[in-house]
Amino acid sequence: MNLCKTIVASCLTAAIGFTAIAQKKTDPKMDAFISNLMGKMTLDEKIGQLNLPSIGFDITGPILSEGVEEKIQQGMVGGVFNTYTPTAVRKLQQYAVNKTRLKIPLLFGYDVIHGHKTIFPIPLGLSSSWDMPLIEQTARTAAEEATADGLNWVFSPMVDIARDPRWGRVSEGSGEDTWLGSQIARAMVKGYQGNDLAAKNTVLACVKHFALYGAVEAGRDYNVVDMSERKMFEYYLPPYKAAIDAGAATVMSSFNEINGVPAAANQWLLTDLLRKQWGFDGMVATDYTAIMELMNHGVGNEEEVAKLALVAGNDMDMVSEIFLKRLKQLVNEKKLNVSYVDLACRRVLEAKYKLGLFTDPYRYVSESRAKKEIMNAAKLQLAKEAAEKSMVLLKNENDVLPLKADASIAFVGPLVKDQRDLIGNWSGAGDWKKAASFWDAIQAQYLNNKFVYAKGCNITDDQKIINKLNPHDAQIVLDNKTPQQLIDEAVAAAKNANVVVAFLGEPFGMSGEAASRSDISLPENQQALLKALKATGKPVVLVLMNGRPLTLQWENNNLNAILETWFAGTKAGEAITDVLFGKYNPSGKLSMTFPRSVGQIPIYYNAKSTGRPIDEQQKYTSKYLDIPNTPLYPFGYGLSYTTFNYSAIQLDKTTINGANDKLTASITITNTGNVAGQETAQLYIRDMVGSVTRPLKELKGFQKVTLKPGESKTVSFTISPADLMFYDINMKYTYEPGAFKVFIGGNSQEVKEADFKVE
Ligand code: BGC
Repeated sequence: MNLCKTIVASCLTAAIGFTAIAQKKTDPKMDAFISNLMGKMTLDEKIGQLNLPSIGFDITGPILSEGVEEKIQQGMVGGVFNTYTPTAVRKLQQYAVNKTRLKIPLLFGYDVIHGHKTIFPIPLGLSSSWDMPLIEQTARTAAEEATADGLNWVFSPMVDIARDPRWGRVSEGSGEDTWLGSQIARAMVKGYQGNDLAAKNTVLACVKHFALYGAVEAGRDYNVVDMSERKMFEYYLPPYKAAIDAGAATVMSSFNEINGVPAAANQWLLTDLLRKQWGFDGMVATDYTAIMELMNHGVGNEEEVAKLALVAGNDMDMVSEIFLKRLKQLVNEKKLNVSYVDLACRRVLEAKYKLGLFTDPYRYVSESRAKKEIMNAAKLQLAKEAAEKSMVLLKNENDVLPLKADASIAFVGPLVKDQRDLIGNWSGAGDWKKAASFWDAIQAQYLNNKFVYAKGCNITDDQKIINKLNPHDAQIVLDNKTPQQLIDEAVAAAKNANVVVAFLGEPFGMSGEAASRSDISLPENQQALLKALKATGKPVVLVLMNGRPLTLQWENNNLNAILETWFAGTKAGEAITDVLFGKYNPSGKLSMTFPRSVGQIPIYYNAKSTGRPIDEQQKYTSKYLDIPNTPLYPFGYGLSYTTFNYSAIQLDKTTINGANDKLTASITITNTGNVAGQETAQLYIRDMVGSVTRPLKELKGFQKVTLKPGESKTVSFTISPADLMFYDINMKYTYEPGAFKVFIGGNSQEVKEADFKVE
């Protein structure tokens, strides 16, 4: 079977655009050490290094690994995941080091996605901070905790660009934009890996899911991806490349197929592109049981998929154990060249060498470090800062926010006293009991007996959804009171208050893996509660917790204020308190478009013009009969408790003369409100005429300014031909002279613009 080759030809040309990468860094000492070790290894021992079973606390896929402790002692395991704590890790490492012939230590991986024990906002939330030093610091902090807890490998960052909020895993990524996503990918890799992988507090990062997993058809998890070469190279691949250029030591191949070839069996993807063209010299692990799943994809039987996956370029087999079962026989029957096994084994051993595990297998195991490092005051403070900076104010009519501490306020909704949901999905090692609920956080800060609480509704009444979520640890328990009784209590509380604050959204299990939704509005019973609250005539503030953009048309049209808090982590309760009461002025900006309706999906800001751009007066133009083309909240959008005015754009010149020239675009931003605030000024570009069509806008930069009331600051952006490059008609990465527009503003829709030329 030669399916690995099917898309090679069409994609080879495109690689030219990515800047050539340095030759593989050689480390003669490492090479000699590993050659010497491999010289002593049997075929079985080499294959054992490629096996990555799950053992311990979590299950993240359809099957569970079995007999792992025994297999470790028999040299049949290269690394494990889902186990942490110094005690648990030491025990398994001792098996590897004391009981196996060659004493090769294990890798210990884990889904440290947005913090290890100190939980930061979900990645989609964190990306809304547009704050690279902060994001890097959260990854650094996660690595410090993870390594103190026995781990040396994190399955993060997830850099899958996504334009479809039905896909539950948008919560794990950085949204829809290639440029922003690439910045975040780099920041996270730097944070995890630091400058020295052998340091005691750095881990191997794992870029995932390679590749294009965020483009699954219809937003249904694990579904097919079919994508043009141009779209792939321009929008979806750059964040993976950015992470690899930042030095990411490992990559995870994805579940999805790409244009007919599953990623886990895709030689073009994992070898030609990743290694030969991008110069990646680290290790590739599959996703959970992905090799086994190749049989469901229909590309071979067990023996065939074992070979396909190895030859394609995977080094470690996560949970399938098909390498363990099949590779030896394939080599012995001369169906597989042993050099493939050798190469994969070498890469696994190199990862271990780089971590320093051969010098000290227990270097990441330290009870005293765990005690000192985990959830210490500085880390919790960072969690609070990250939570505050990730929140996005979506609406604030008549300055109903911030709340006044001496007002009568009805806090309503199942999430007011909730703890579990605060830390969100993929918070495996996080302890939600350490996250103060919003209710506890306000009690700790404000002694106001005019704050009242009513639950108002269950998080959802939909028993079918509850049945799907509960077995996977969501544990939604329906209240003994009827839905109507709950609403009546909330309405009574609202009637006695000056303002109502409703805490609603998704339970954490409604986003994340295997949590796609076809309807991304608030659960029906929550909508019923909001309608009843609205009918009281009191101002209603909606505080949202959720893991994806939602459709909120009714809420936007009828409620007075909306604050998006995502799942903000261990310090969510305190951070929401400080944002609602104005101690922190919200500054987050959306990294993903909020549609008006699911019918608009896929919807994203960097769309292209059709031949018949929308014109409401003309029938035959590109639009819907029932709704506008525009989203409810665009990419880059987010309000503040103050307002900002943008001046006209000043260009220092209007022509860029050649590749080495540049121009500067400046704009003056003034705080026109009554409180200090931070604004993120965003720079977008449009190439007016190209050899291929170009998006209406593309993000190319941003700058943050903090302004006191009345204060003005000028921010400047440099624009050079390097910012204007794209894949031309021949898939050559270049810029084309001609007319351009530059836009600067506080979101992707409300911008000032100016024109320039490139000669
Ligand atoms: C997910 C990965 C994760 C892996 C290990 C898979 O189901 O797709 O993101 O890293 O499990 O838990």
